[in-house]
Order: sequence, then structure tokens, then C-alpha cells
Amino acid sequence: MTDLAQWLTTQTHDHALASAVTSMAAAGAEIAGILQLAPIAGQTGLAGSDNVQGEAQKALDVITNDIVLNHLRTNTAISILISEELDEAVDVSSQGRFIVATDPLDGSSNLDVNATVGTIFSILPSAGGLLQKGSDQLAAGYVAYGPAASLVVRISGATSVFTLDADGRWQQTLAEAKVPQASGEFAINTARERFWDAATTGYVKESVAGETGPAGKRYNMRWVGSMVADIHRILMRGGIFLYPLDSETASKGGRLRLLYEANPMAWLVEGAGGRSTTGRQGILDIMPTDIHQRVPVILGSADEVKRVEEWYRRV
Ligand code: AHG
Ligand code: MN
Ligand code: MN
Ligand code: MN
Repeated sequence: MTDLAQWLTTQTHDHALASAVTSMAAAGAEIAGILQLAPIAGQTGLAGSDNVQGEAQKALDVITNDIVLNHLRTNTAISILISEELDEAVDVSSQGRFIVATDPLDGSSNLDVNATVGTIFSILPSAGGLLQKGSDQLAAGYVAYGPAASLVVRISGATSVFTLDADGRWQQTLAEAKVPQASGEFAINTARERFWDAATTGYVKESVAGETGPAGKRYNMRWVGSMVADIHRILMRGGIFLYPLDSETASKGGRLRLLYEANPMAWLVEGAGGRSTTGRQGILDIMPTDIHQRVPVILGSADEVKRVEEWYRRV
């Protein structure tokens, strides 16, 4: 079996970059252990504080943020950490060549029901500053804490999948993830239908019309409510994920965050042959104006994403 360390030597000659990925993988392994025992350890419920986006933090949002910070602090390759749970970017090492942006615990509303949650990360060159396009990413990944803990990571080649073994090591279980070009599964929070724009409404209507509708095939809907879990399904068997700009989220620019949710996921999905867009622009082409900026997110199987893009051109 190939482990993460062996794989990294095949993906980059930059040891510092490899060490940044290794630190996030180590944080993920530690978080996997914490999550397994959290209900016994009493690490449940709210932390009693809000994050900068106005969300009530869960105890585990705070704990996992601290774990990531502790792993990065000891790595001199890291200059700055940007986190969903930290108002401001945090200085790590003055000589560090890499910025890490993270969602330390994605899908934290799913903790109470023991559903899959995750940790997402994006690695950027320090030289580019805090606000860089997703296309400038040097690496990105996530850990999905499900029945198995899966690390999905991409430097600039293939998107590769690792599974946490009993000794806490990441073993490669899929060398190259491939998002199928076509799919019959879409993921969107349909309870928000009344807020949708015409393109989203058009795409979903066409899909639920089934075999005799304009899409000419039958669709299924899946929505875990953890972006990591929904994207992991799409990376493994295809589909499309939509959190579009809607009339309720429009004033904020969308629901999901560009630097530590949209960009890393777009990097991974595109590395696996999928496609990503806001509807009107490629996600990886957006020049951020704020570290916590929100953005519409549509990504997954290329044919489906293209069909949504056609809707945006039409309406
Ligand atoms: P987070 O838990 O990091 O704040 O992210 C939650 C996000 C994402 O994981 C998911 O896709 C989305 O929120 C779910 O939104 P709804 O509550 O509208 O379903
Ligand atoms: Mn949150
Ligand atoms: Mn999230
Ligand atoms: Mn989060």
C-alpha cells in the first residue's frame, strides 16, 4: 500500500509544501479520534459564542479549530492561518511560505445526529497575500469523518483518496478520483425553493421532470447538509451540488465561503475531471475581497454543471 508520505514524494519536490499537507492530515487524524469519543467526553452542544459570520459556534467548532492551529503552529512552513472560526487571519511563522485557509469542522449542525462532517483546507503561497484566486492554490483537501475517515487531497495532479488505518496512518485507497461526466443525482436544499433564481428553478424543474422531461432521464435528490459529505459522494460516484445565490443570501454574496469551502472543493472536483462555477463565473477565477467572503457554489459532474451554466446564460 502507498501511504500519504510516499504519495507526497510523487506529487511535489517541495518538502515544505508536503509538510503543510502532512500537518493538515495529522490534524484530521487527531480530529477523527476526538469526534469518535466526543459524546462520551461531553464535547457536545454549543460553545456559547458566535463566529465572525454570526453563526453560533459548537463546542467542537472551537475544539477542532484549536487542533488545526496547534498542528500548524509547530510547522515553520506556514505563515498564516485563515479559519472560519477566527475573525482575523492569524500569524503562524514569519518565514513560512504557505497560507492555510480552513473550515475546521464543516457540517457542524450534523454533529448531534452523528452524520458525516469534515475538515476542509486550502494551501496558498504566502507571497500572494491573503486574497488570492482559487487558481493560485498549491494544494487543497478535506477529511470526511464518516464510517471511515477519508482524506481527499490534490496538489496539482490527480485528486487522491486516503483512509485512516488503525495505527493513525493515511493509506491510499484510490489513486485518482474521477467524477463521472454524466450523473442523475443533484444535491440542493429544496426547502429554499421560494428564494431561488430563475436558473436554479429551471435546472431543478427540468431534472425532476424525469425521463419524459427536457433532461430525458430520471434524477434522484441527495442532501446531507454537510458540504464535505455531499462533495465526497459526488467525487466517488458523480452528481451536482448547488448552493446558488438566492434572494435570501444575495445580500451576503451567497451561503458558502470562498476561501475555505468553495475554492478547495472546486480544486479537488476539477482535479477529478468535474466542473465548478458560481453560475456565471468559474469559482477558481474569483479575486476575493475579504477572507470570509461568501460565494454561490455549483460543482460536480461536468455535463450537469454545463446544463446549469446554460440556464444562467438563458435567464
Ligand atoms: P459549516 O458547518 O462549516 O458552517 O458549513 C455548513 C454549510 C455546509 O456544510 C452545508 O452544505 C450547508 O452549510 C448546509 O446548509 P443548509 O443548512 O442550508 O442545508
Ligand atoms: Mn459554521
Ligand atoms: Mn462549512
Ligand atoms: Mn465549519
